[in-house]
Amino acid sequence: MKNIPCILIAAVVLCTRLSAQSTDESAFTPANPPEMKPFANHDTPAYRAAKLFRHGANLGNYLEVPPGQNWGGTFSADELVAMKREGFDHVRVPVGWHHYAGPAPDFKLSPGIFACVDLVVTNALNNQLAVMINIHHFDELDKGPVATTEAFLKIWQQVAEHYKNFPEPLAFELDNEPHDAATTVAMNPIYTQVIAEIRQTNPHRTIFVEPGKWGGIGELKNLVLPPDDNIIVSVHCYDPFYFTHQGATWAGPDTKQTGIVFPGPPIQPLVSDPKLDLKPWVRNWIKNYNTLPTEKNPSGPLAFTGKLKYIRAWSDYYGRPVHLGEFGAYTKADAQSRRNFYSAVRHAAEEFKIGWCIWDWNAGFCYWDKKERHAVPGMHDALFGP
Ligand code: BGC
Repeated sequence: MKNIPCILIAAVVLCTRLSAQSTDESAFTPANPPEMKPFANHDTPAYRAAKLFRHGANLGNYLEVPPGQNWGGTFSADELVAMKREGFDHVRVPVGWHHYAGPAPDFKLSPGIFACVDLVVTNALNNQLAVMINIHHFDELDKGPVATTEAFLKIWQQVAEHYKNFPEPLAFELDNEPHDAATTVAMNPIYTQVIAEIRQTNPHRTIFVEPGKWGGIGELKNLVLPPDDNIIVSVHCYDPFYFTHQGATWAGPDTKQTGIVFPGPPIQPLVSDPKLDLKPWVRNWIKNYNTLPTEKNPSGPLAFTGKLKYIRAWSDYYGRPVHLGEFGAYTKADAQSRRNFYSAVRHAAEEFKIGWCIWDWNAGFCYWDKKERHAVPGMHDALFGP
């Protein structure tokens, strides 16, 4: 436990994420490599498990944080009671297992990290919340997936062994947001190996898999999964990124502009400060944001509805359930816009029958106000209201 302190602020550089998530994916054609065989039967263990993972919250900025840092996320058993009471059915728990692994060849995980994860997992399960644990921010894997495969396998071998007798509402997610060298194509065979390893001890465990480019929806077309019928695909969507990540220091220079509302256009046009030195594409985005009607506005539902529609079509074609494992807006956005945004994504996801999981529960994108011990005003209605 003492290995998981909390002191500094998040400084994760996610600059390249923007371009990865900005393509329009509305036109679906079954373009995956031929090795990706569709399942005709949609009554698989994965589809049954997906029913447990419809409305979730990420316990973000907590157990994934490198030792010695504090990104603001905390855990309390009472909050999991509140999470269930609010209407959530699952919690996604990002975990930085790799920070607690010993040297090669065993990569032995410290008992301390298991104790921390066990505490969250058992409390979640006791509160009838399904729970998903992953490996989060495994930067070495993103830099060199082949060189890091052995460590990745050994970590999952130990995690799988430890949780093999836990009930089925505990799921494993192999890797959060693979990116850079961890492309979908590079990860396909690695995922196949890790899944085979996990199946030695956990034949019935639901496994979530994310494509490359940060769980990019546009990467579904490169995914090749083994013929295992208990895999759920998970993707992330933070569009419109200049709205959701406005003022987020870790998201790079393009997100310096704050004061962006959702949905656009704003009542008063936004005039950006020349000192921000915004790039031409950001200035152009702001011009469209200031002038286009809501249905065409880049800070509106247009930014994500086509993508969610694409997910639905891909999922139906391949017979693989897909989950939206992260979406959210940083608290630098105004409160009303955040409510509008969470409500709009959640409604669109539900329209396309996609389970969703907000980023995050009680850190920088928070749903829960831990000081006041209630949901941030309006957030409950945004996610669970009509
Ligand atoms: C990262 C967080 C980040 C969030 C929004 C997550 O995938 O793990 O560190 O705050 O995305 O950018």
